[in-house]
Amino acid sequence: MQQVRAVVARSRNAPVEVVTVNVPDPGPGEAVVRVQACGVCHTDLHYREGGINDDFPFLLGHEAAGVVEAVGDGVGTVVPGDFVILNWRAVCGDCRACDRGEPWYCFSTFNAAQKMTLEDGTELSPALGIGAFAEKTLVHAGQCTKVDPSADPAAVGLLGCGVMAGLGAAINTGGVGRGMSVAVIGCGGVGSAAVMGSRLAGASRIIAVDIDDRKLEWARAMGATDTVNSTGSDPVEAIAALTGGFGADVVIDAVGRPETWKQAFYARDLAGTVVLVGVPTPEMRTPDIPLIDVFGRGGSLQSSWYGDCLPSRDFPMLVDLYQQGRLDLDAFVTERITLDDVEAAFERMHHGDVLRSVVVL
Ligand SMILES: NC(=O)c1ccc[n+]([C@@H]2O[C@H](COP(=O)([O-])OP(=O)(O)OC[C@H]3O[C@@H](n4cnc5c(N)ncnc54)[C@H](O)[C@@H]3O)[C@@H](O)[C@H]2O)c1
Ligand SMILES: [Zn+2]
Ligand SMILES: [Zn+2]
Repeated sequence: MQQVRAVVARSRNAPVEVVTVNVPDPGPGEAVVRVQACGVCHTDLHYREGGINDDFPFLLGHEAAGVVEAVGDGVGTVVPGDFVILNWRAVCGDCRACDRGEPWYCFSTFNAAQKMTLEDGTELSPALGIGAFAEKTLVHAGQCTKVDPSADPAAVGLLGCGVMAGLGAAINTGGVGRGMSVAVIGCGGVGSAAVMGSRLAGASRIIAVDIDDRKLEWARAMGATDTVNSTGSDPVEAIAALTGGFGADVVIDAVGRPETWKQAFYARDLAGTVVLVGVPTPEMRTPDIPLIDVFGRGGSLQSSWYGDCLPSRDFPMLVDLYQQGRLDLDAFVTERITLDDVEAAFERMHHGDVLRSVVVL
């Protein structure tokens, strides 16, 4: 066991605290990772607001890269010294989804069996089974995906959650391809990654929608061909006007609220696809939409869990594209901060000042 500094949310809506936590030595199938960088994702804020569940205290942080320090018995996939991105989809290989050859849906992903604790022994719930706003964290070895060690941890660590979710929402879930039209509602870290993914996939029209002009400016730099500020205009009409009156082939809701999902529903062309990648809170309800519209407009209404990624397939490939200058992950890193700045970073996220604040250790 060792003790490290880490960011903990003790109770609903309380400001996070930097405290000492106990990290057990890795048991069978587990790894201890020295965290080098961890992005601040909106999901961390959802946890701290009690929007995910009530399993306080949470050890926050889940968008990270670092170096494997030690592994437990039976670990053959990584060794100490490996540079890894942490993932929250360590596939089991054995569930209904894995059995039918769709491991990116794995219904039984692995996490560390042992618990990290507060100094008094209180068990912590690591965000998404990771808990990487910490000098070191304990994960399942399958949560460690080896990538090119010469890459910047602050940039590639973002593939561990939000950027992968956005890229994958476009490329994997939405099936965006050459010549297609795409609209992305909400251009924070996740939505702007969906914009970047759409460009990478060859979409010819990429419409970014947000309520904040700064986000729209950043989205344009990442590949948006058009921008819509939906505080001033109806995004459904604006998207129709930009797509010959038809709507977009794929509309991605990267906010996750009933009203944005409804916009996505009506902003797509006939037989188009809606992708919900923003995470709603438990009390939100599907918007009231006539069932005949669901039938009459056709197409598909999808959710995107983690961009339907398969970390072992997607992370190394995306890091290679980054290293070749074809995927500008640096553009997401608005600021580099310390563990002590996470609460302030939530505030800046709330005010729309950042795409990603990244804790660098
Ligand atoms: N599905 C997944 O696997 C997955 C992974 C990571 C994050 N998420 C979720 O994705 C969502 C976005 O995360 P993020 O880190 O990009 O957050 P963020 O706070 O960086 O971005 C949210 C963006 O939405 C904009 N916005 C808010 N209300 C809007 C509205 N009504 N219309 C248009 N734009 C609006 C904000 O201005 C901001 O730019 C969150 O709900 C997060 O929990 C999902
Ligand atoms: Zn599985
Ligand atoms: Zn996240």
